[in-house]
Amino acid sequence: MDATRANDQLEPIEKAGRDELSALQLARLQATLLHAYTTVPHYQRKFDQAGVHPRDCRSLADLAKFPFTTKADLRENYPYGMFAVPMQQIVRIHASSGTTGKPTVVGYSRQDIDTWANVMARSMRAGGIRSTDIVHVSFGYGLFTGGLGAHYGGERLGAAVIPFGGGQTERQVQLIVDFKPDAIMATPSYMLAIADEIERQGTDPRSTSLRIGHFGAEPWTDSMRKQIEERLNIQALDLYGLSEIIGPGVAMECIETKDGPTIWEDHFLPEIIDPVSGAVQADGEPGELVFTTLTKEALPMIRYRTRDLTRLLPGTARSMRRMARITGRSDDMLIIRGVNVFPSQIEERILTVAELAPHYVIEVSREGALDRMDVLVELKPLHAKLSATERNVVKGKLEHAVKAYCGVTAQVRIVDVGAVERSVGKAKRVIDKRPKI
Ligand code: DLL
Repeated sequence: MDATRANDQLEPIEKAGRDELSALQLARLQATLLHAYTTVPHYQRKFDQAGVHPRDCRSLADLAKFPFTTKADLRENYPYGMFAVPMQQIVRIHASSGTTGKPTVVGYSRQDIDTWANVMARSMRAGGIRSTDIVHVSFGYGLFTGGLGAHYGGERLGAAVIPFGGGQTERQVQLIVDFKPDAIMATPSYMLAIADEIERQGTDPRSTSLRIGHFGAEPWTDSMRKQIEERLNIQALDLYGLSEIIGPGVAMECIETKDGPTIWEDHFLPEIIDPVSGAVQADGEPGELVFTTLTKEALPMIRYRTRDLTRLLPGTARSMRRMARITGRSDDMLIIRGVNVFPSQIEERILTVAELAPHYVIEVSREGALDRMDVLVELKPLHAKLSATERNVVKGKLEHAVKAYCGVTAQVRIVDVGAVERSVGKAKRVIDKRPKI
């Protein structure tokens, strides 16, 4: 077998059974706990305060005895305080901008970069990309982990990578038409902006060379997947990851089953917890996803609270477990007059109304003592010329659907095509204008 074909085969661990996997996880977990405890003062202090020592971890279940790590821990140790290797061994730094305050800074050793390239190559292969393919990367390059993560993974796989990055949508489309990539990687919201631009330039989005799209970095729904697949005549797969754990490539949907991302459990050990009590939940139960890294050198993360809400599901295409599509983040949840609402629920409803485009923003404000939620949503270009009366009917349809399915009243405002700001990366779905308490 030649080298490129070899890259298209599964790694042995992807074919291993649960017992082999668990044994590997335990050995790696014990080593990681010790590494964190002995090299990062912050971990040593937190373990000591909780009265636990790495040698107390004799089974995978013992992990529950150890304290959680949060974004606040990273902030307190800004920028490099949580690094577990000397600065001379760091070869890359990324950062993710939070909604407030300082960015979260993450560092990689040479071996971490290698691990990341491997899990991204594995992800891309699982999602149907082959070493013979051309891959157009529309994730931003720079401090964001999307671009370089996809880039190194694609090269490791042996594919031909086009490092376009985010933005310059017109040129982006021209290159897609001319360079004929087989696959594209982008945020789902940006993919829709690219599809609009392909259409604007007079090409049928279904007619491009693209066969596959890997999308992630922001929540999206199954209805959004269907729209993207139908509009572009591609297979759309879910790629998950976060900077603190490594970047993209923590979990990836397998093309043969398309039933939620498989977590690469030989590198990242998942748990689901109750976001309020912190108690570990059984597989299948909803809650907040928590990860412990098993092979990271420069920034080992022990029980990192992602704030992402999902469930752990049994393996299908692999023996490794899957995660259900993320329904939202525990800090993304809007509470409107006491009712919990996630932007993804509103998105689901928008996509049931045929005249509406999936370009929307939710504005929350306060009217006297009461919350008010406005959903600004665009018409599809095809329906741009609807009369005022017809628009009112569409508005009524969505208001009714939101009330019936989400239990809250929304004021729907139908806006002109292009009125909702397009993002080239993660879309900002919520503008909360309520006074901070
Ligand atoms: O967004 C890494 C990434 C890049 C993942 C490209 C996938 C593709 P951060 O900027 O640190 O890293 O943001 C991580 O984005 O905790 C989730 O809330 C959200 N997120 C990432 N992937 C998905 C996904 C990158 N597939 C945060 N579905 C995470 C839903 C996602 N949310």
